[in-house]
Amino acid sequence: MAIERTFSMIKPDATARNLTGKIVAKLEDAGLRVVASKRIHMSLAQAEAFYAVHKGRPFYEELTKQMSAGPVVVQVLEGENAILKNREVMGATNPANAAEGTIRKEFALSIGENSAHGSDAPETAAEEIAFWFSKTEIVG
Ligand code: PPS
Repeated sequence: MAIERTFSMIKPDATARNLTGKIVAKLEDAGLRVVASKRIHMSLAQAEAFYAVHKGRPFYEELTKQMSAGPVVVQVLEGENAILKNREVMGATNPANAAEGTIRKEFALSIGENSAHGSDAPETAAEEIAFWFSKTEIVG
C-alpha cells in the first residue's frame, strides 16, 4: 500500500473543549503523521465554499454556521492507507453509531458537533488539502 495523504479537521466543538491534543494523539497512535497543521477561524463564506457539495441539504445552514462559530485545526495526515485509517479512527458520523475507542464515540456531542472531519476519497482529499494549504506548508 502506497503512502497516502488525507485532510483532517478538528471541529469547533472540540477546540472549545480543549480536545485538540487528545484527538491528535489518537491519530498519531494509529500511525498517522501530521505533516501540516494550523489553527484558523473560518468565515461563513469559507465554510459555505468548503461544504458546497452539501448545498441544498437540510443540514447545510446549521453545518456551515457551526463550522464558522469558533476555531478549527486543519491538518494534513500522511501514512499507509491514510484516508481509510483516518475515517476509522474518527468513527461514524453520528456518535450514536460510532465504535468504542473512536474520536466521535469519545468526544462528539451530536451528528453536527461531531469533533472531527476527514476526507472520504483520494479526489476529495486532494481538493480539501488544496483548499486550506499551499504546497510549501506541507512538510513530510
Ligand atoms: S453524506 O450524505 O454521507 O455526505 O452526509 P454525512 O456524512 O452524514 O454528513 C455530511 C456532513 O454534514 C454534517 N451534518 C450535520 N451538521 C449539522 N447538523 C446536522 N443535522 C448534520 N447532519 C450532518 C456531518 O457532520 C458531516 O460533516 P463532515 O465535516 O463532512 O464530517
